Amino acid sequence: MSSVEVINSLSAMSAWSEAARKRGERIAFVPTMGALHAGHLSLLSAAREHGDRLVLSIFVNPTQFGPNEDLARYPRDLDGDLAKAGGVGTDIAFVPEAKDMYPPEAQTFVEVRQVSRGLCGERRPGHFVGVATVVCKLFGIVRPHAALFGEKDFQQLAVIRRMVADLSLPVEVVGRPTLREQDGLAMSSRNAYLSTADRQRALAIFQGLSAARERFLAGTRASASLAETALAKMQGQMDSIDYVEIRDADSLAPVKIVDRAAVILAAAHVGATRLIDNLRLG
Ligand code: PAJ
Repeated sequence: MSSVEVINSLSAMSAWSEAARKRGERIAFVPTMGALHAGHLSLLSAAREHGDRLVLSIFVNPTQFGPNEDLARYPRDLDGDLAKAGGVGTDIAFVPEAKDMYPPEAQTFVEVRQVSRGLCGERRPGHFVGVATVVCKLFGIVRPHAALFGEKDFQQLAVIRRMVADLSLPVEVVGRPTLREQDGLAMSSRNAYLSTADRQRALAIFQGLSAARERFLAGTRASASLAETALAKMQGQMDSIDYVEIRDADSLAPVKIVDRAAVILAAAHVGATRLIDNLRLG
């Protein structure tokens, strides 16, 4: 267990990275919004293989929350996060303030067009502009050699990969598998909102996606039919379902017949909590 150095200022973070690069060290980076759980820690542990120094950022990014979303009540636990991050060998926790990340004169936003459309992009207008902008800015401050992201946020990972390619950003983007609770529920900071009863109902998302994948493995290839299987498991348990869709695993283009690497993605509300999950098909 090592203690993590906390850096708040953008310039101090840049200076640290500059010095590390001058020493010839590789910097691996895991951006988060905090309330760290085992899924985040799995990214930090994996990051060790991608760099000599390990930087975590904790920033509840206001620009990726819609006006009626959970920005104000998003879980925050800096002391707990630092203890957990230290346990997996994190060197630096970069914890900037919103006023420094978004000074009043800022006017540049990053829009990744096609990949941001549909799915969460349709349900959360502006969300992926907020994500792409903050990640681009974090890359500029931290200047990592590699950055790790979870497949749990599958569309987010696709947006970031596209942004890095389109803007020729010198960062290797590494995607990592979703960590789950024992019963299959995808780990998420938002699971902390769930009451015991809602926690039980939330499992239907994973069960629906799993049932669809079972049918895929048994030979069903029609996306509509596979999505129907997942929906049937989720309906009745969820308070509302935003989407269940099957998309190309690389481009995220809609897929009618699953004849290539694809992914089934779902988003649904349990009580006041919006949860997302996905499983690869093939
Ligand atoms: P946050 O939700 O805190 O997630 C930080 C990283 O952890 C993301 O890459 C996410 O995909 C990954 N992650 C979350 N749950 C996971 C799980 N169960 N298994 C594996 N990885 C998991 O995603 C964000 O923050 C923000 O949008 C951010 C990229 C930091 C930009 O603000």
